[in-house]
Amino acid sequence: MKEIEAARLQFSVLDQVPVGLCVLKKDFTILYWNRCLEDWTGIPGSDIVGRSLLAHFPHLSAPKYASRFQNIFEGGPPTIFSSQLHNYLIPAPTNRGKMRIQHTTVTSVPSYDHRDAYALLAIQAVTDLTHRIQGYRMMRDQALEEVKERKKAEDALRKSQTELETRVRQRTADLVSVNERLGHEIEVRRETEVELKKLISTLNTLVAHIPEGVVFLDGQQRVVFANQRGKDHLRTLTGMGEGAVVENVAGRNLGDFLAYAPQIIWHEVVIHEPSKFVFEVAGRTIRQGDTVSGIVLVLKDVTDERFFEERIHSQERLAAVGQLAAGIAHDFNNILTSIIGFAELMLSDSDLAKEDWDMVQGILQNGQRAAQLIRQILDFSRKSISEMKSLDLLLFLKEFSKFIRRTIPEDIHISVDCKPGVYMIWADPAKIQQVLANLVVNARDAMPGGGRLSLSLSRLRVGADRMPPVPEMSHGDWIMLAVLDTGTGITSEVLTHIFEPFFTTKEVGKGTGLGLSQVYGIIKQHEGFIDVRTKVGEGSSFVLYLPAHDVCAEVPRSGKGPVLPKGAEETILVVEDNESVRNLIQRKLLKLGYTIYTAKNGRDALSLMEGHGKKIRLVITDLVMPEMGGLELSRAIKDRYPSVEIIALSGYPLRCEWDDFENAGITDFIQKPFVVQTLAEAVKKALGRRPDLN
Ligand SMILES: Nc1ncnc2c1ncn2[C@@H]1O[C@H](COP(=O)(O)OP(=O)(O)OP(=O)(O)O)[C@@H](O)[C@H]1O
Ligand SMILES: [Mg+2]
Repeated sequence: MKEIEAARLQFSVLDQVPVGLCVLKKDFTILYWNRCLEDWTGIPGSDIVGRSLLAHFPHLSAPKYASRFQNIFEGGPPTIFSSQLHNYLIPAPTNRGKMRIQHTTVTSVPSYDHRDAYALLAIQAVTDLTHRIQGYRMMRDQALEEVKERKKAEDALRKSQTELETRVRQRTADLVSVNERLGHEIEVRRETEVELKKLISTLNTLVAHIPEGVVFLDGQQRVVFANQRGKDHLRTLTGMGEGAVVENVAGRNLGDFLAYAPQIIWHEVVIHEPSKFVFEVAGRTIRQGDTVSGIVLVLKDVTDERFFEERIHSQERLAAVGQLAAGIAHDFNNILTSIIGFAELMLSDSDLAKEDWDMVQGILQNGQRAAQLIRQILDFSRKSISEMKSLDLLLFLKEFSKFIRRTIPEDIHISVDCKPGVYMIWADPAKIQQVLANLVVNARDAMPGGGRLSLSLSRLRVGADRMPPVPEMSHGDWIMLAVLDTGTGITSEVLTHIFEPFFTTKEVGKGTGLGLSQVYGIIKQHEGFIDVRTKVGEGSSFVLYLPAHDVCAEVPRSGKGPVLPKGAEETILVVEDNESVRNLIQRKLLKLGYTIYTAKNGRDALSLMEGHGKKIRLVITDLVMPEMGGLELSRAIKDRYPSVEIIALSGYPLRCEWDDFENAGITDFIQKPFVVQTLAEAVKKALGRRPDLN
């Protein structure tokens, strides 16, 4: 214990130092335990001094401590136990419950009698230092980290800069190529635009020149575009213009006109205001997906077309009626030839009682009236033969106006207006007179309360620069003969029928309805045209267009006396299938002093010619006969007996023209029904052609 006391004294000063101090003997008995350790461990020196340290801290008996302590007890060099490496030699918790970090330096100190060595443990608390070091370390690490980060950032920056540069380079290259492409595209686009503009202009020109009206409506049926015709027609049909919403066309819903492509359905629309117009309207819906994006309306003005169709239709109708009428007229002519002929024969009988004579005269007059009607029908059907010659219409009209002044009532003022000029036509004067007479009489009838009747004559040149007044008229010089009245005018219903035979609005007995039919036929025969303009309540004008024929007029033939030229027993062969007509001609010619043979057809005639060929000077033959017609017979006769004269006889010449007659050797033609005078003159003329044979 002396040792302990001695040690205590020796080390009592050491209670003041902030270092844990402990002295151990070789057997780990504690000789000294200073205050600092008391504080740190909570074990008072009184409790621990004189006891083995291993009793309190058994972990120190582990070999890693034992060998190093052994060294110390044997007087070896000091050794340091860091708490980090050797854990805690003497664990000493801090106030906060954590272990103090310690550096324990174990030093060998000689025992008080210098026989042994003790171990002095100096325990230094290094928590703060450690923490500081740890802080520094952390700061250093942080700094290092930062440096590293910065380096990384710098690297990244450098990398990104390089990347950026590469990308910029790439982008620049891209931009250059894009630029080039863009330049090319702009060029292409410019070219496309030019093409497009050209195309649009072509399209516009096309649409503008389409002969139909074209109107584009948008999905709301608003007019967005129309060519000029489209605008005009739309205004006529709807009264609307560009920008307007079209719901109806001529009173019909727009939808009625619409069809989907490729269908086109034309709808006829007739409007009467401001005047009559006929339109064809077709509409087509343009769809984009399920929605209607627009509508195209096509408007066609077919007013003229319909007018011409109606005109052609009526001409065809007239031609058909004409054909029919001509057939009837042919049969009637044979009957009338007999009636008139026999009546004439009877009248020439001097033994006839006065009463009978009057009656026969009545028969003759009515027969002639009927013949006149038949002639009108034949004129209409253009089956009558005309005596065409150059005719000065100016002279003719002057003569004619004198004649009408006597027949037109005084309350009708007549004016004749001829512009100076040459008015020659190639015409049959009798027929032209007939035409004018019919027109003037109609004008008179249309002005029962008086009015004005104007006849006028002028010339017209139709050429490429001017539309003809009648569409069918050819280019050239025309003479216009107009008959104008201020009468009742003609309604459109009546107008479509006026040229038809037997169409009349006049009371029974007042009109036959043949006047204009005859006018029509005659003008057609003269290769002319008729244009009728009329307004109900204001009057009518009938304008005749006849081809100008600019040669000098022929000197009119002097009239013939009423004396019947007689024959001198010349032999004539009469060929006629109608028995009555045949007998009649035979009797007439016998009366005139001729010798007559008769045959009822061509074959009989030829065999008769064989027997009496030399005697027969003249053959009068009907044209239309069964088996062998007049033309064929004439050709056969002319073949064998070229000196024989031939006169043709017919109700109408059918499709024969003068050329056909001449080619067949026919020198004259008598139209049935005929009066004896005509027959006598024709026969005399024919026989007079070959006086050498008389
Ligand atoms: N100038 C006119 N003004 C009014 N109506 C007319 C005129 N000319 C002809 N017409 C009409 O045309 C119809 C036919 O005329 P058309 O000359 O063929 O026969 P019509 O005069 O009745 O009889 P017809 O001439 O045979 O004696 C007439 O009935 C009349 O209705
Ligand atoms: Mg008439």
